[in-house]
Amino acid sequence: MDASEVAACWEANAETWTRHARAGYDRYRDGINTPAFLVNLPEVAGLNGLDIGCGEGFNTRKLAELGAAMTGIDIAPTFIRHAQEAEAVQPLGIAYMAGDGMALPFADASFDFATAFMSLMDMPEQHRVLAEALRVLKPGGFLQFSILHPCFSPPYRKVLRESDGTVRAVEVGGYFGAVQGDIETWRFGAAPADEKAKVEPFRVPRFHRTLSDWINLIIATGFSIEHMHEPTVDEATAEAVPDLADLRVTPLFLHLRVRKAV
Ligand SMILES: C[S@@+](CC[C@H](N)C(=O)[O-])C[C@H]1O[C@@H](n2cnc3c(N)ncnc32)[C@H](O)[C@@H]1O
Repeated sequence: MDASEVAACWEANAETWTRHARAGYDRYRDGINTPAFLVNLPEVAGLNGLDIGCGEGFNTRKLAELGAAMTGIDIAPTFIRHAQEAEAVQPLGIAYMAGDGMALPFADASFDFATAFMSLMDMPEQHRVLAEALRVLKPGGFLQFSILHPCFSPPYRKVLRESDGTVRAVEVGGYFGAVQGDIETWRFGAAPADEKAKVEPFRVPRFHRTLSDWINLIIATGFSIEHMHEPTVDEATAEAVPDLADLRVTPLFLHLRVRKAV
């Protein structure tokens, strides 16, 4: 699957994705993934940041609220339109543009840091987006990103539950399978049934890589690995939001911070 087909899938997802994410149906993002990402983020106040694969801008706004001067880029124009509309309603000084993370339209050494929230595993040529991130970062700048955990969310993942609903284990498979754009179809699990019934499921092209693929790619690009994190939830959160209980058994996400040499 080439980049234009990937872009077409995301453009088709963007309208419903924005509406459902803003309605609070992306429980993993809101409940654990973004909070954990921000806890592990270095101080960004006063820095120039680029958010790669920014979607409708939810996380870009969080970074701007922390005091960073943000630019957001996404392949899907509909996401960018929604992000710009949110910026017009509540200005945070964020510049959004439609564009490809694998061919960033910025000069070398433009940014102090870059982020990519759950977007790099959606790009067909990850070596290109990593090389582009390195290029647009200033010396000493960092890239922090989250991806589906290569080990615990490979192409096949099934949560196994006891009869009372508690999570017993997570079954995984297909870890070593080369996945280059296989389409996964799903909806946000927390969306109410009537909402789910009236929308098409998301079609998400998947570009799974093994953990060693990712680590070797990062090193070959020229970054050094600075920090890793595998978000989990405490018992009280799992009880309050049962959708997140599988995160007490295995991680679903992997967060990495990598740095360009000075
Ligand atoms: C799972 S969504 C995450 C969106 C957002 N970062 C968030 O956390 O809410 C993945 C995003 O990556 C974007 N994307 C996929 N391929 C891209 C590419 N080549 N360049 C830029 N953005 C891309 C999609 O349009 C989508 O907005």
